[in-house]
Amino acid sequence: MCPRVGAHQRGRDDFKSSLFVSPGELTGEMWYNKNMIKFTIITLFKEALEPYLKTSMMWKATEKGLAEFDFVDLREFGLGPHKSVDDTPYGGGDGMLLRCEPVFAAIESVKAKDPDAKVILPTPVGKIWNQEMAREFAFYSGPRPSGPFASGNSLPKGRAPRVDDVISRAAAIRNNPSQNANSHYIILCPHYEGYDERILSIVDYKISLGKYVLTGGELPALIIIDSVVRLIPGVLGGETSAEIESFSEGDNLEYPQYTKPYDFRGMTVPDILLSGNHGEIAKWRKDHSGKAL
Ligand code: ADE
Repeated sequence: MCPRVGAHQRGRDDFKSSLFVSPGELTGEMWYNKNMIKFTIITLFKEALEPYLKTSMMWKATEKGLAEFDFVDLREFGLGPHKSVDDTPYGGGDGMLLRCEPVFAAIESVKAKDPDAKVILPTPVGKIWNQEMAREFAFYSGPRPSGPFASGNSLPKGRAPRVDDVISRAAAIRNNPSQNANSHYIILCPHYEGYDERILSIVDYKISLGKYVLTGGELPALIIIDSVVRLIPGVLGGETSAEIESFSEGDNLEYPQYTKPYDFRGMTVPDILLSGNHGEIAKWRKDHSGKAL
């Protein structure tokens, strides 16, 4: 079964009549579903992406109507009897490059239904992805004249959005029935040795996952999607800023954490964590917070 069960089948306003939703879930879903994010992934290897997006939190996000994932098979737009999507580089050189025609046709087929959809290209020469950028995509869920990273956008007080901004924007949307903050990103996954440079003319965001080269855009697409979707209020279950913050900002990863058992092969949990003294525990955590390597 395709993962687009949540918002897609139910529609945004028919939760009351949906047999899939329990009454307890209703309020939360109706609350959140106006801030839904959709990713359409253009790929030759849907089978590499689908299992992950049908698992755990990504699957739950679609079930709750907070995210939707759709696939477009680039091969369908290939040329000639072999549905070819690549060719040799002008000027010589090894390898094959993704051709413009199939890529433009695939993107235009999505944009014909949603002209506001923005195109992301994972590429080693893009802007290096980080948590702040993930937050910007989550924050800017919704139609807007200018998107993440664009100048002149409506960043609160001219600064990068924080997790509270994501939450207060979700609340503003919830409180204003005329607002619809759904947003749609098309991720083009190149494969082979690269792409024709003219493809960049149809791309809104070039994103790199780091200074190394992968064989295709599928792994970067999953990382981008996961890191954005988990920030959409409601995905991780948290509905308050404290809950979301503790999950979203990585604060709970900065200090050492322990769970049961108390003693594992002679390695015991620091006693302060069993003391029940919240002030001392907070101080201990602060003192033991490390920085990312
Ligand atoms: N495609 C190949 N390598 C990549 C990288 N490091 N980041 C994003 N897309 C890529």
